[in-house]
Amino acid sequence: MTSVLVTRRLPTDVAALLRHLTGIDIDVETWPGAGLMPREKLLRKVAGRAAVITMLTDRVDAELLETAGPDLRIVANYAVGHDNIDLSACQQHAVVATNTPDVLTAATADATWALILAAGRRIVEGDAVQRAGTPWSWAPDFLLGREITGKTLGIVGFGRIGQAVARRAAGFEMTVLFHTASSNRARTVPGATATPLAELLARSDIITVHLPATAATHHFFGRQEFAAMKPGTLFVNTARGNIVDEGALSEALASGHLFAAGLDVFEHEPHVHRRLRELPNTVLTPHIASATSETRAAMAELACRNIAAVLNGQDPLTPIQS
Ligand code: GLV
Ligand code: GLV
Repeated sequence: MTSVLVTRRLPTDVAALLRHLTGIDIDVETWPGAGLMPREKLLRKVAGRAAVITMLTDRVDAELLETAGPDLRIVANYAVGHDNIDLSACQQHAVVATNTPDVLTAATADATWALILAAGRRIVEGDAVQRAGTPWSWAPDFLLGREITGKTLGIVGFGRIGQAVARRAAGFEMTVLFHTASSNRARTVPGATATPLAELLARSDIITVHLPATAATHHFFGRQEFAAMKPGTLFVNTARGNIVDEGALSEALASGHLFAAGLDVFEHEPHVHRRLRELPNTVLTPHIASATSETRAAMAELACRNIAAVLNGQDPLTPIQS
């Protein structure tokens, strides 16, 4: 029987959906654990499968593909990011790799705005004051944040998510600058201006990262880039942690050069750089930018639709473009 492995419980009945989409009986095994599927279990369980739904925490490499064996036809990653997948190894093994773009764009853009507003307006510090029960009184200079409306927003990486962040900026009457390395997709968000990186860094009040994690974007933001930002800049990252040199970021925050940072992703997840945890001017969330019930269900459905297409001999809906 056609057999599918799912490395984490999903908010969808994968077996029922796959049977419905393919019309064949499919055996689905889901790792039942509360935590990550341990690597050795994954390697043991992947053998003989036709498809596997992987999380961004599962490394898909030559070892896994060889262990899976010749029946494996598709790896459906339950994420838009795919830095956990060795695409050339997939190609060598004639395995299709897919991701979940589009369905998580709005949730991730919304979460980016949540971080911009929370870090800019010191929402978490204010919440801590209230929870501590310490006496406070209204004062003209109490917990002053940064004005958001009317400021300049710099978006680095202008794929689907970067563009969705730009569209949301219209309500805040912002000047929107963007920088992108790739030019093969239409970049049309009214009012957003393509800007060389150096100029974007120098002009923006808020800088938000929406690059993919690749060898070329590793530590894209380092000491030099933070130094090139205006004093008082607000920095947000909902893309991938290793795009940012966390040591350099913590220095820029500790010195007061940056006003604050809102971060959903970290270089060594689930570990968070100690200084980032200790600084008062960081808002830190545990990689939850796509975490809404609607989006997580849509991601599961898209992963299943990709698998069904491949098992049915059709093209996948959202193959990863290398
Ligand atoms: C989450 O980080 C994703 O890439 O979907
Ligand atoms: C890339 O930026 C994406 O949103 O898929």
